[in-house]
Amino acid sequence: MERTTESPRLGGRRILLGITGSIAAYKAAVLCRLLKSAGAEVRVVMTPLAKQFITPLTMATLSKNPILVEFFDPENGAWNSHVSLGEWADCCLIAPATANTLAKMAAGVADNLLLTTYLSARCPVAVAPAMDLDMYAHPATQQNLRTLAERGVRIVEPAEGELASGLTGKGRMAEPDTIAAFVGELLSEKKKSLQGKRFVVTAGATIEPIDPVRFISNHSSGKMGYAIAGELARRGAQVTLVSGRTALPVPEGVDRVDVLSAQEMFEAAAEAFERADGGVMCAAVADYTPVAAADRKLRKGDGELTIALRRTRDIAAELGARKGRRLLVGFALETHDEVAHAEEKLARKNFDFIVLNSLRDAGAGFRGDTNKVSLIDRTGREELPLLSKTEVAARIADRIEALLAPEA
Ligand code: C5P
Repeated sequence: MERTTESPRLGGRRILLGITGSIAAYKAAVLCRLLKSAGAEVRVVMTPLAKQFITPLTMATLSKNPILVEFFDPENGAWNSHVSLGEWADCCLIAPATANTLAKMAAGVADNLLLTTYLSARCPVAVAPAMDLDMYAHPATQQNLRTLAERGVRIVEPAEGELASGLTGKGRMAEPDTIAAFVGELLSEKKKSLQGKRFVVTAGATIEPIDPVRFISNHSSGKMGYAIAGELARRGAQVTLVSGRTALPVPEGVDRVDVLSAQEMFEAAAEAFERADGGVMCAAVADYTPVAAADRKLRKGDGELTIALRRTRDIAAELGARKGRRLLVGFALETHDEVAHAEEKLARKNFDFIVLNSLRDAGAGFRGDTNKVSLIDRTGREELPLLSKTEVAARIADRIEALLAPEA
């Protein structure tokens, strides 16, 4: 079994690794392994010449995905769509990148699958140049690198050292661990993609008083909701976090409103939702509250004690009923018939999508720092791997962004 040490930056991220025809292609094997063991999904596109330097079999085995080289498979005619590859990737990393490929990228030449994928990718792109010192220093190469950098391509500087030619100088591809760290950094830089948007996020457990001392509550830690509020704020949104009692610090840039009961949470959430573009209902709201909280501590007796409970307001369902064009995301924590229950809530509460976590999955649910969820909307279900709650929050924010995008 392969050991994975999930990195918060690379875990669950989709990396398209482009390999071009350079001696340094052998390092792409180690790089691929590093990315995989950090929890990333990797798909490899090779230029035709790259196959002379490292075999597709090696890269397919390490990436656990078939290697793509040609526009279509000559055996069966299956089409390798550069557009869908570009859409799939969270980051396109070309390592090693030869002088030839860099020149074609700068000029917009599209004569192989890797180049067409680069031209249609909308995700961040990084290149790790690898070439002889004179090719690297040549004004044409330097100009191409500047052009690419001006267009937003990130360059992993080559190192100085012994080169395949026997010469010594600058042009040696950066080491795989340096490149993997660079990509991790790149993926954690959040663009201010939600600037000008407002959200309300509910988080944590509500507290329903029985008397001045006791209450009904649940195990929610609030971590998932806090991670979402933090992520939306990092992307530039104005976030009101309506929070039940937790021990968590307020995420940077987030405006927190502290509440105790479901009724208080409803009032705060409904008010903030009025002015919002969307809401994420992450709180574990009590479904029942004592009909009347005693104003003095209940005395214990010998017999059984019955406390009359009444239903609380369903905050999500009420916001769902009045949401109009606003976006609403819900959560479902289930122990059985998970998907059916989540789909029922998606429809009844009028969510745009619902995040399902099952208590049956190891590493999911309360208190922990990881979660394993599926994202369900009216078109289907996307199952995510076990991820840190921060990564899950990033995936949820990605969906929200896509739904708010003008063309959506
Ligand atoms: O019906 P259930 O409690 O399983 O639904 C879960 C979803 O509804 C979550 O998004 C939760 O935050 C929200 N909810 C709510 N108010 C309630 C009960 C649930 O906002 N009273």
